[in-house]
Amino acid sequence: MAGSFSHTPALLSETLEYLAPFPHGSFVDGTLGGGGHAAEILERSAPDGILIGLDRDPDALHAARERLAGYGERLRTVQASFRDLTRVLEQLDQTRVDGVLLDLGVSSPQLDRRERGFSFAHTDAPLDMRMDRDNGETAADLLARLSSAELARTFREYGDLRGSRRLAAAIVDARRSSPLRTVGDLVAVIEAAGVGRGRKHNPATLVFQALRIAVNDELEALGEGLEAAIDALRPGRCVVVLAYHSLEDRIVKNHLRDAARRCTCPPETPVCVCAGVRRVELLTRRPVRPTPEEVRANPRARSARLRAARRLPEAV
Ligand SMILES: C[S@@+](CC[C@H](N)C(=O)[O-])C[C@H]1O[C@@H](n2cnc3c(N)ncnc32)[C@H](O)[C@@H]1O
Repeated sequence: MAGSFSHTPALLSETLEYLAPFPHGSFVDGTLGGGGHAAEILERSAPDGILIGLDRDPDALHAARERLAGYGERLRTVQASFRDLTRVLEQLDQTRVDGVLLDLGVSSPQLDRRERGFSFAHTDAPLDMRMDRDNGETAADLLARLSSAELARTFREYGDLRGSRRLAAAIVDARRSSPLRTVGDLVAVIEAAGVGRGRKHNPATLVFQALRIAVNDELEALGEGLEAAIDALRPGRCVVVLAYHSLEDRIVKNHLRDAARRCTCPPETPVCVCAGVRRVELLTRRPVRPTPEEVRANPRARSARLRAARRLPEAV
């Protein structure tokens, strides 16, 4: 299993530079995935550093546990969303940590395994797209349940798809004769609706991205996860986030920028009511991108954007 669950970590040396793992430290990898970043954090925090690894996907956790078995008790894994980090840390009696990593999105094995339904290349795959396959609605469920207006909003807001309303209407029309069950069913409707032609991205890429975000409630989880990560950090320690599309990256940028401001009241508020304190210092004004060499070696890293922030002492 571990051998077949292989994911090359993106921006690995840059991530380690900001996280700066050290012996005795306790770190969180909120997106354990194939355990690539985790292995290096464990190496560099030897002999007694701790890594708490979260993932929503039980397959990923299983593979990461196998791969990282040699680190014994130093690795603690929990099947959970990083949006629940505060609760997870409380349950582990670990309220503050020395670094948090969130490497967003899906891993290579999730994309490559046809039965997960994440890739539009696997036309006979079921339309699942859940990271946690034991819970929640599948993409097929959403395509069957959402109204035309809700589908259009999903494709527009999460995929920036030109022709969102046309595609939503085509889906509603198609499902009247038979439900959309497979990736191929959806791809056929996208092609017939003729949406997003002539744009940089294949329209199916945008539609699949939008559905995946909706199925997994990814953007809400990201906002909550960032908040929980900042809360969990000891002063002087860092949160590092790797985003893979502009929607995610905008949320990370805005959230960290707000946490780095003293006052977060809306501009029209005459007097500050938030009693705001700066909680972090931004370490990356612009996102760090992979080098051309990294992209050549690992094409899936090409869209990665890293942002990092350092927790300030409470009273700043
Ligand atoms: C890009 S991969 C991480 C790869 C990992 N850094 C490595 O080096 O192998 C993203 C992983 O995060 C998980 N994931 C995505 N959103 C999550 C969330 N809200 N909470 C926990 N895990 C999540 C996915 O299931 C996937 O395994």
